[in-house]
Amino acid sequence: MMHLSAVKLLLLIAAVAAACGFSWPAATATTQVQLRPNGDDAVASCSPHERDALLAFKHGITSDNSSFLSSWRRRGKEDDCCRWRGIACSSQTGHVVKLDLGGSGLEGQISPSLLSLDQLEFLDLSDTYLQGANGSVPEFLASFNNLRHLDLSYMFFTGMFPLQLGNLTKLEYLNLSHTYSLMWGEVPHQLGNLSNMRYLDLSRIAAYTYVMDITWLAHLRLLEYLDMSYIDLSMAVADLPLVVNMIPHLRVLSLRNCSIPSANQTLTHMNLTKLEKLDLSMNYFGHPISSCWFWKVTSIKSLSLSETYLDGPFPDALGGMTSLQELDFTNNANAVTMTIDLKNLCELENIWLDGSLLPVNIAEFLEKLPRCSSSPLNILSLSGNNMTGTLPKSIWQFNNLDTLDLSNNNISGAIAPGVQNLTRLVSLILSSNKLTGQIPKLPKSLQVLDISMNFLSGNLPSKFGAPRLTELILSNNRITGHVSGSICKLQDMYMLDLSNNFIEGELPCCVRMPNLTFLLLGNNRFSGEFPLCLQTLRSLAFLDLSQNKFNGALPMRIGDLESLRMLQLSHNMFSGDIPTSITNLDRLQYLNLAGNNMSGSIPRNLIKLTSMTLKRSPGMLGDWEDWFEDIMDRYLPIELFSLVMKHQELKYGGGSVFYMVGIDLSLNDLTGEIPVEITSLDGLKNLNLSWNHFSGKIPEDIGSMKSLESLDLSRNNISGEMPSSMSDLTYLSSLDLSYNDLVGRIPRGIQLDTLYANNPSMYDENDGLCGPPLQSNCSGNTAPKLGSRKRSTNDLEPMFFYFGLMSGYVVGLWVVFCATLFKRSCRVAYFRQANKLYNKAYVCAVVTWARLTRQATAN
Ligand SMILES: *[C@@H]1O[C@H](CO)[C@@H](O)[C@H](O)[C@H]1NC(C)=O
Ligand SMILES: *[C@@H]1O[C@H](CO)[C@@H](O)[C@H](O)[C@H]1NC(C)=O
Ligand SMILES: *[C@@H]1O[C@H](CO)[C@@H](O)[C@H](O)[C@H]1NC(C)=O
Ligand SMILES: *[C@@H]1O[C@H](CO)[C@@H](O)[C@H](O)[C@H]1NC(C)=O
Ligand SMILES: *[C@@H]1O[C@H](CO)[C@@H](O)[C@H](O)[C@H]1NC(C)=O
Ligand SMILES: *[C@@H]1O[C@H](CO)[C@@H](O)[C@H](O)[C@H]1NC(C)=O
Ligand SMILES: *[C@@H]1O[C@H](CO)[C@@H](O)[C@H](O)[C@H]1NC(C)=O
Ligand SMILES: *[C@@H]1O[C@H](CO)[C@@H](O)[C@H](O)[C@H]1NC(C)=O
Ligand SMILES: *[C@@H]1O[C@H](CO)[C@@H](O)[C@H](O)[C@H]1NC(C)=O
Ligand SMILES: *[C@@H]1O[C@H](CO)[C@@H](O)[C@H](O)[C@H]1NC(C)=O
Ligand SMILES: *[C@@H]1O[C@H](CO)[C@@H](O)[C@H](O)[C@H]1NC(C)=O
Repeated sequence: MMHLSAVKLLLLIAAVAAACGFSWPAATATTQVQLRPNGDDAVASCSPHERDALLAFKHGITSDNSSFLSSWRRRGKEDDCCRWRGIACSSQTGHVVKLDLGGSGLEGQISPSLLSLDQLEFLDLSDTYLQGANGSVPEFLASFNNLRHLDLSYMFFTGMFPLQLGNLTKLEYLNLSHTYSLMWGEVPHQLGNLSNMRYLDLSRIAAYTYVMDITWLAHLRLLEYLDMSYIDLSMAVADLPLVVNMIPHLRVLSLRNCSIPSANQTLTHMNLTKLEKLDLSMNYFGHPISSCWFWKVTSIKSLSLSETYLDGPFPDALGGMTSLQELDFTNNANAVTMTIDLKNLCELENIWLDGSLLPVNIAEFLEKLPRCSSSPLNILSLSGNNMTGTLPKSIWQFNNLDTLDLSNNNISGAIAPGVQNLTRLVSLILSSNKLTGQIPKLPKSLQVLDISMNFLSGNLPSKFGAPRLTELILSNNRITGHVSGSICKLQDMYMLDLSNNFIEGELPCCVRMPNLTFLLLGNNRFSGEFPLCLQTLRSLAFLDLSQNKFNGALPMRIGDLESLRMLQLSHNMFSGDIPTSITNLDRLQYLNLAGNNMSGSIPRNLIKLTSMTLKRSPGMLGDWEDWFEDIMDRYLPIELFSLVMKHQELKYGGGSVFYMVGIDLSLNDLTGEIPVEITSLDGLKNLNLSWNHFSGKIPEDIGSMKSLESLDLSRNNISGEMPSSMSDLTYLSSLDLSYNDLVGRIPRGIQLDTLYANNPSMYDENDGLCGPPLQSNCSGNTAPKLGSRKRSTNDLEPMFFYFGLMSGYVVGLWVVFCATLFKRSCRVAYFRQANKLYNKAYVCAVVTWARLTRQATAN
């Protein structure tokens, strides 16, 4: 699972670094000696003594899945360990000075034989499963006196971190980010002895970690990079800014979620003239934003203050921070105002102010933004600010815009013309506003368009003009007209959502949309037969054609849609048999054919619907994890992915769509018996077969459908007795058996009794049922009365009862989503974007937790 092309990872990191506007410490930068690269024609070769030490180390490795150590061999030409992968020697002395196993995924023990490498300057064991004896941090690490670079990030240890680390006085780079070490507790002040330190990364240590006294930090005079995110600093006695102000070379300072109580200290003299990146997000300050200490630091390029709950007007000083490239001020409870002019901030590229501004007119706000000769503005994200007014034409003058997000505001009027002139626009998100008028002409570069939940009208354009669209989300508007055949040219399409509009006519036959995963067309006026070409869309996972006027039979080969997870065809006029091939859909977990004219019987072989069994249901992750990983791989950057997720949550509520497991065949003309095989679908939460003509008995073994929460068999011709196993359905919260021909004694059980108390009509019109909780006694005469009332067609009350399958599964999507964050690629990209939408602390916790469980199971 950890494998991921190194190139991709590097690209990502480079992108992140570039986006953040500062250079990251290159791994070799801190090692001053000249390293002899692998494969170089060398004078010196490795000493047998060091080679043996490395081979002894290799001996302790129990798993090397990526064959990282395959070049580490004693025999033949390759016995020069200076040429081995991950090793570098000094060109002067020939000694091994570098051991870089970072990201190799090696598993096993860190052999003390390494101690022989006493000239070692660079040691990177990050993202491996290496440990000392008994899972500890090997104490001998503290004996590498020459070490300048030590990276133990993403490693897992059971013991305490050796305090002797303070002996490594040459250390310039120490990375313990995401490391798990059980008993650290307080960060050892011994770190203050490492006076050559330039890069110190203690972020997101997986166990609770705190600092009592932060003054030791001030000893690290050479420090350029400090990340202590997620370390509890609330108890640090000294005022943090005062300490930090003694570190004059500081370039990067990250103190995300450190429980810092306030940022309103006064600094008389500002030493921090080199600070470029400051991240204080997720600390609850709750005081006026203008009183913060950092406004004097004009060198800042990236300022992150999301979830700090600062309030009041931005200070004038912001207008003078001319180096600023990125301002992240999201989720601050809509309590700040932007009254100052930012016209001099000509470097500003990214602005996130989602959920932070007091209501303001959008045009007035845009007036404040920089108007430099060439505007570098790349991302402008202003969602959830209750902004009013209409979209002015001037917004399209930011001609380098890549992402524009104005969703969840109160913006009205038509979308001003000119958006097609933004030749770099990739993502345009205007959902949940009060926009009217027509869908605008789109720029060629656009990939994501979301204008859902507005009041757009007019016909769908016959040409969208954006051939690279991957997501087209126009749901919940008043759009009319037909879908033109030109939509088939959008071959990159991943999500097409036109639901809840007034679109009519037949669906064009697109066969070249290999990645189409969501096709959501519910509640329109589409007509014609089931679009046969859909069968070729092998990626389709969510298909919703409900509440339209489709008719005719379902295609026999519907089982070819191998990726299908949700098939919602309810409330159309489909007729004929349910195709047997439907049971080939082994990923299908939700099938809704309610309210059609389907006839015939339920196909056998239901047992093949394995995603409806507990063994494979999504709660168990299983192939869902792979699926999410696949999406993540394909649709990085994460922005796009989280958009999909947000969209799904809005539509189906709380990520529940991923946990729906159900079959709804109600309101059809189905006949025959309820197949016994249905009881093998023990992951099924909802089963609705009501309003059909099913006959025969309720399967004896129905009690094995352990997950059932709702069972509706009402309005059929079901006869026989209620199986006693029904009292085993402990999760059942809704049961309806009314209007059938059931006979005999009702099985007893607390669950059934409670259900009856809540819904006393659930046994109605089954004249042969008897015993408590009903009034009628079972007097031995349990035979059904002849001529018991049959349902007449007039009985059909106007009951377009659309069972709330979605409700009740409020299980966080996060369980699944976070599982995918194992992947390094996702983590990197995710944490870059982490300021939006989701709670980072939780993610961090889940990520580390997940990692630990993985470690635990690996052991
Ligand atoms: C390496 O592969 C083995 C077997 O394929 C697997 O059990 C183990 O978990 C893998 N280890 C890592 C670190 O991926
Ligand atoms: C590892 O644990 C065993 C028993 O739990 C103990 O005897 C041994 O001394 C430990 N080794 C180290 C290096 O801590
Ligand atoms: C660390 O340094 C102290 C003295 O400062 C010394 O007593 C100790 O042995 C050293 N530890 C290691 C592991 O070298
Ligand atoms: C520390 O390691 C993590 C994960 O490997 C990486 O993301 C981070 O950039 C590193 N920190 C520094 C200062 O290089
Ligand atoms: C390390 O720091 C402690 C106090 O924090 C001090 O007593 C000790 O002398 C220092 N050791 C070295 C080698 O600098
Ligand atoms: C600025 O830094 C220097 C050297 O690190 C320190 O001596 C001085 O006290 C600092 N000034 C303030 C105001 O903190
Ligand atoms: C700083 O803010 C805190 C509230 O977070 C407040 O209690 C304190 O009085 C403020 N201090 C100053 C100097 O304004
Ligand atoms: C910060 O992290 C702690 C756990 O360390 C968590 O309880 C808290 O909610 C987080 N704060 C924010 C603002 O997310
Ligand atoms: C948004 O503004 C309108 C008035 O402009 C107000 O009625 C509404 O309550 C506001 N909504 C929020 C969430 O602030
Ligand atoms: C779009 O660009 C064209 C030519 O580049 C220009 O004529 C037109 O006025 C622009 N439209 C808007 C609304 O800015
Ligand atoms: C579809 O997804 C695959 C990755 O699975 C990707 O390589 C390909 O470029 C995508 N195709 C289109 C047309 O977007």
